[in-house]
Amino acid sequence: MRATEAEADGTGEIRKLTSLVDISQELAGSLNLGASLPGVLELLGQHHSVVRASVVLVDEESGELYVKAAIDGESPRGRGRRVDGLAGKVVESGRSLVVPQVSREPLLHDRGRRAAGELSFIAVPLVVNRKAVGAFTVFLRYKAHRHYQRSLKFFRVVGSMIAQAIKVSRLAEAEKRQLVEENTQLREELRDRYAFRSIIGNSAPIQAVYEQVAQVARAATTVLVRGESGTGKEMIAHAIHHGSPRARKPFVKVSCAALPDTLIESELFGYERGAFTGAQGLKKGRFELADGGTLFLDEIGDLSLATQVKLLRVLQEREIERLGGTQPVRVNVRLIAATHRPLERLIADGQFRDDLFYRLNVFTIYAPPLRERKPDIMLLADHFLEKFASEHGRPIKRISTPAIDMLTSYHWPGNVRELENTIERAVLVCEGSVIHGHHLPPTLQTAEASGTVPRLSLTDSLGAFERDLIQDALKSTRGNRARAARLLRTTERILNYKVRKHGIDCERFRA
Ligand SMILES: Nc1ncnc2c1ncn2[C@@H]1O[C@H](COP(=O)(O)OP(=O)(O)OP(=O)(O)O)[C@@H](O)[C@H]1O
Ligand SMILES: [Mg+2]
Repeated sequence: MRATEAEADGTGEIRKLTSLVDISQELAGSLNLGASLPGVLELLGQHHSVVRASVVLVDEESGELYVKAAIDGESPRGRGRRVDGLAGKVVESGRSLVVPQVSREPLLHDRGRRAAGELSFIAVPLVVNRKAVGAFTVFLRYKAHRHYQRSLKFFRVVGSMIAQAIKVSRLAEAEKRQLVEENTQLREELRDRYAFRSIIGNSAPIQAVYEQVAQVARAATTVLVRGESGTGKEMIAHAIHHGSPRARKPFVKVSCAALPDTLIESELFGYERGAFTGAQGLKKGRFELADGGTLFLDEIGDLSLATQVKLLRVLQEREIERLGGTQPVRVNVRLIAATHRPLERLIADGQFRDDLFYRLNVFTIYAPPLRERKPDIMLLADHFLEKFASEHGRPIKRISTPAIDMLTSYHWPGNVRELENTIERAVLVCEGSVIHGHHLPPTLQTAEASGTVPRLSLTDSLGAFERDLIQDALKSTRGNRARAARLLRTTERILNYKVRKHGIDCERFRA
């Protein structure tokens, strides 16, 4: 080798090393290959008589080759996103390929002819985890004395750097996907757990309910859900069940008010064959059907005293006896009871057993009446509007402002259920895309609803006022009746009488 040639060789080596450093920096700069690869190819184009270069990858789903990045002699970010015929062979065989004269290789002929002058072609496989996932291909200007093995070595090094970058980016991608999946799964679990998806409401009182549900769900504690009709007691019971470790076990509901006294016991406890005329086979009661899960006793205030005694025994013994049965059956059931009735008053009147009440009253959740959570009215109204509009295939988009005013100023004695029915009715009678005031029922139309004329008789109004005053006093004394009586400048005896008369639950204020 002559001196000048050796010199030229030396500067060539230095240039290659500098390029390698630049390339590695380019690749390290971003986890996104789409962003870093074009830069790498352009670096090569600037220095190494590279006319065209491309990175071709195997699509992980279809298995087909596609161009991930390319530069072209004519336009640096060439659009000719065509895979060179030989790239596929390189990927298939996992072996590098050198074609000194492109014009002599039929598979490359087409591209070679378009280029000015003769070209050489080098392709190296991109290997990740011992598998060719693509190819790195370059077209070089043809030089008669090119040292092809040395060039190949250089492009192999570049290829292995690109492969490494592909590996890192795929790992990062997989990790990200896994995190996203985990995250979605966790969120879904959470939502399912509390079934909060279906409970609508943002107001402070309903948020307090969410918190209580979350607190009590995980334990097997008996829960008593109280609140006026239509406030969502059953939804709360569902949310507790779905938030509990029993979520995958049955949730069995018994409506105590719906069943006549004679049937309720056989419903609850089941019967053995021949227990009574017509008992033809063994029938499992709801307690047994709910084994491992949750039994929801709705309208518990309507149970007869006789059934109350039996229920109390089950709660104490944790076992049931089928009617006509001789052997007790152990049951593992979580009990949730609900009622809209004033149990304290029923106890005072001798209609509800106090010992059963104490058993049930372990953890009590109050479902707040809708009028005490005004902010939720529109949330619920919009929710029901969407639900019923799609259920009945009506293109209704919104509620007019006057109708909104009517909805928010009404006192909703039937609570959420009444609101739900009101919106369904409005959807059915609405012929356009907007719910107007006249689509709402007459109860909301009158001046009464908006509170402009007195709704109640004098006696009723005074009674309501008295009830409010007593509740306020009890609120500020945290349920202490003696102090509340002093606040109202009356005697404890009179206060006790009025508390009973109005069915006020003092326990509520003991927070
Ligand atoms: N927060 C809420 N979000 C969405 N829907 C609700 C909500 N509260 C109640 N509902 C709906 O209102 C209706 C009445 O609810 P639910 O049956 O749970 O009330 P309840 O307190 O058990 O009433 P009742 O004492 O009359 O049995 C149901 O259709 C329920 O889907
Ligand atoms: Mg109910």
